Amino acid sequence: DAQKEGYDHYMLKEIHEQPMALRRALRGRIDAGIEVPAWLLDHPDGVPVRFVACGTSYHAALYAVELLQKRGISAQASLASEFATSPPPLVDGSVVVGVTQSGETADTLGALRRASEAGARTLAVTNVVGSTAARECDDAIFIRAGPEIGVAATKTFSSQVVTLALLAERLADADTGILQALSTVPDALQYVLDHTTAPQVARTYADASAYFFVGRGVAHSVSLEGALKLKEISYEHAEGFPAGELKHGPLALVTPETPVFAIETGDHSDRMRGTVEEVQARGAPVVAVTHPESAVAAAAETVLPIPETHPELAGLLANAQLQLLSYHTARLLDRPVDKPRNLAKSVTVE
Ligand code: AGP
Repeated sequence: DAQKEGYDHYMLKEIHEQPMALRRALRGRIDAGIEVPAWLLDHPDGVPVRFVACGTSYHAALYAVELLQKRGISAQASLASEFATSPPPLVDGSVVVGVTQSGETADTLGALRRASEAGARTLAVTNVVGSTAARECDDAIFIRAGPEIGVAATKTFSSQVVTLALLAERLADADTGILQALSTVPDALQYVLDHTTAPQVARTYADASAYFFVGRGVAHSVSLEGALKLKEISYEHAEGFPAGELKHGPLALVTPETPVFAIETGDHSDRMRGTVEEVQARGAPVVAVTHPESAVAAAAETVLPIPETHPELAGLLANAQLQLLSYHTARLLDRPVDKPRNLAKSVTVE
């Protein structure tokens, strides 16, 4: 209990540690740039940067793919367990980045080993210095989140995204303005934590039959992460979808009993407005996770507000709101927040 420093759960403590963790992840890496191995900096144009990861780390990798592609760098993310059974064609000079908080996840280690055997160069992006991934890969970059005890990954997702954003900017040819925005993200995240309406929103929807999360671009990865967090610790049915995919099937599940969380980062406003209307027409209440003055917020029943920031980083702020939503929903349902059933912090079997 002493280690929880007054918080009821490690998860809540770790959510609140995020501004500090992000300051650590960024320290010395904005002005000088993050240190990246030369083989990655010089990898041939057109050879994709391939990420392998599981769970929350996979969602951080999807976020990174979006950032790299926006900078004209070809990138792909694979679930590590799928990479093992259906490996993509790898040649000498391929680059594979394993994103793993613990550095010990068997599926991710397996994928990295297969990549290495096929002649790829490998990089670990991890939280744990001295972990198997850090030792076995050609190089490692550390996310500096500090120890994470709660089974649900929270601060490590944010630290992974920030570290991968630094990496994306380093690999890019031009300055996109994200570095300046990154320096303001710890304070913006603190603002979200201090002004969240997640406890009220969790109470309003505690009897929902299912929860859906939708977004586009980086908000798609956040929708997947929001749903994973909620199912993991509340045991409620939750799904994340790319917003444009709703009409291709998932819309059949939408009813007045299924709140839809519309995550809008500032660059897909018109299309997200359309999505909101689409689900409202089926009676679903909409919670906008966005800037309170946006058109999506105006159309929604409820808002989980985030301050204005660079659209590529707004997903991080939205994600913090969703972490708190999951936490408060799990509390209302009396779930064992830090140790959900059937799950382990580090999955060391394939
Ligand atoms: C996240 O809340 C999960 N507990 C889980 O998905 C986790 O992210 C996954 O097992 C990967 O772990 P790693 O980052 O240590 O490799």
